[in-house]
Amino acid sequence: MRTIKLHLSWGSYEILIGHSLLSQVGETLKKSGFKDKIVIITNPVVGLLYGDSLRSGLEDHGFAPVILEVPEGEKYKSLVQAGKLYNHLADFQAERRTPVLALGGGVVGDLAGFVAATYMRGIPLVHLPTTLLSQVDSSIGGKVAVNHQRLKNVIGSFYQPELVITDIATLKTLPEKELENGMAEVIKYGVIRNRALFELLENKIGSIKALDEGLLEDVISLCTDIKAGIVEKDERDLGLRNILNFGHTVGHAIETVSHFRIAHGRAVAIGMVAEGMISRRMSILSDSELNRMKLLISRAGLPVKISGLDIRKLIKAMKHDKKKIGGKIRFALPKTIGDVFISEEVSPLTVEQVLKELYEETQDLCHNRQ
Ligand SMILES: NC(=O)c1ccc[n+]([C@@H]2O[C@H](COP(=O)([O-])OP(=O)(O)OC[C@H]3O[C@@H](n4cnc5c(N)ncnc54)[C@H](O)[C@@H]3O)[C@@H](O)[C@H]2O)c1
Ligand SMILES: [Zn+2]
Repeated sequence: MRTIKLHLSWGSYEILIGHSLLSQVGETLKKSGFKDKIVIITNPVVGLLYGDSLRSGLEDHGFAPVILEVPEGEKYKSLVQAGKLYNHLADFQAERRTPVLALGGGVVGDLAGFVAATYMRGIPLVHLPTTLLSQVDSSIGGKVAVNHQRLKNVIGSFYQPELVITDIATLKTLPEKELENGMAEVIKYGVIRNRALFELLENKIGSIKALDEGLLEDVISLCTDIKAGIVEKDERDLGLRNILNFGHTVGHAIETVSHFRIAHGRAVAIGMVAEGMISRRMSILSDSELNRMKLLISRAGLPVKISGLDIRKLIKAMKHDKKKIGGKIRFALPKTIGDVFISEEVSPLTVEQVLKELYEETQDLCHNRQ
């Protein structure tokens, strides 16, 4: 098991990463000083897989847990669901020191985190992330939120957990597509901050996808360490955290234009290729580095081209984002694998050319297949 400590202005907390840690949650929480009531928030998919054993493990250590389930899906990351959870917390007579355990992926983590942050002005939050994305990304950094109408994550706060327990064994039941979505963020960490991680992925992507336990522990720990280090320096997302957006400027436009039919990880994968191409066009990233990125992304099972989306709409979506940050599109662009820089100086023409290039390649491919 690895322990990564995240130091923040008000104190610190630990992220535990290892195999079969869910079976030890009772013991771990007892050591952390919790007692009596515990609220587990999950969804029916994850609840069915891990809820009962988590509950009985907690009972064995003298806790009185209750499981609250929210329906499966991003659309239930909402104020309506938060409202229902508040009712359950009140019925259960949750108190200021009653912890909320968020058992699930990023959707459950963000919603349960939001509820923990707001109920009685804040009750303890413990993340038990069960998707690769939530293990390397959403459970670290303290962002909690719900969606509002068509706006994603627009109602939220910064609220740090008291503990994160990352059980790698839960990835065994995760659908392959979800594992691949998480891999997009893993590759992102390599590109922005750690060339050795990128090389490890290049050498071992097959074994990682086959869920080799030791490798997964290494990879998830490296990613966690990178994100924790960035969050420590920029708790409230005012500067350095921008580098985590590599692949996301274009990626968000792809998600929006596809009406979220293209999953976040896949959109970010295409976004990383597009933003790598922008950097190459600016004569910063070399051809060979860009090709390595593309190859790894596709070997991870992720797309490297835009298909079936209207380029004009993509550009419009990016221009809309541009308004939000004072007229300029902000990009995190790779200099080399392992290092990025922030630029607001990318010309709209370059963006357009790159999107067209990505799109045209797809058309060529379709053409070749016919
Ligand atoms: N707070 C942050 O900093 C942050 C960062 C990135 C993303 N997010 C948010 O995270 C969410 C996406 O998270 P996600 O990718 O984890 O998706 P998710 O939570 O929807 O989980 C993906 C799917 O996997 C299922 N699942 C989860 N764990 C499983 C397991 N171990 N075995 C089998 N099935 C399992 C879920 O039921 C779901 O169907 C989005 O809402 C996004 O906005 C938040
Ligand atoms: Zn992301």
